[in-house]
Amino acid sequence: MVEHQGRPGWAEVEDFLSATLVQGGAGMEAVVRSIDEAGMPRIEVAPTAGKLLMLLVRIQGAKRVLEIGTLAGFSTIWLARGLPDGGHLTTCEFRPEHAAVAQRNIDAAGFGATVDILIGAALDTLPTLAGGDPYDFVFIDADKGNNLQYLKWALRLGRPGTVVVMDNVIWEGTILDPGSDPDAAAIRAALEFMGTSDSFEATAIQTAGAKGWDGFALAIIR
Ligand code: DHB
Ligand code: MG
Repeated sequence: MVEHQGRPGWAEVEDFLSATLVQGGAGMEAVVRSIDEAGMPRIEVAPTAGKLLMLLVRIQGAKRVLEIGTLAGFSTIWLARGLPDGGHLTTCEFRPEHAAVAQRNIDAAGFGATVDILIGAALDTLPTLAGGDPYDFVFIDADKGNNLQYLKWALRLGRPGTVVVMDNVIWEGTILDPGSDPDAAAIRAALEFMGTSDSFEATAIQTAGAKGWDGFALAIIR
């Protein structure tokens, strides 16, 4: 293969795609600033991935979205942008101080009446949602060790046809070396569950960008 000196890399291409197709999105600059100001980790989804979430919610025609892992509300706001008027989003956040930052960002983006933040361990708050209307779309992006449990909650709180997206399923390729890292093992187990369970029709896509080598799983509940 010909060597390309100074050839652009994934991160630069990602910047180009964000600038060309996403343009930051109104209000998202303030969300990113809030993450930095609060000293929170910069692990929000890439702008291109956020816009993908918005498009998937719209393609699905989802009226009720469940998110597990709010952080500062970056993906929450993208998901909410995909909802029709009268749509609803429930998002689960472990840490109250992160939820407070997210609530401010969600309110500033105009989704205060659309979004409910459930504060606490999702495995404690998700059971409170049982018995309500099913969710049409579930985005899992929280502590990776509980991914398998979160998939099972998606099955309980969804319906046939519900779309499930799970972030960070490649984890720099460590899913092939699950002994290296408990998170890698948990992510791999969740993928294997999606692949073997009769309840999911699933695939996964690798991504390379500003956040390195990762990817997401996409499934529907059968
Ligand atoms: C981490 C978590 C994420 O959800 C992500 O997208 C990237 C990194 C992390 O915990 O390191
Ligand atoms: Mg993530």
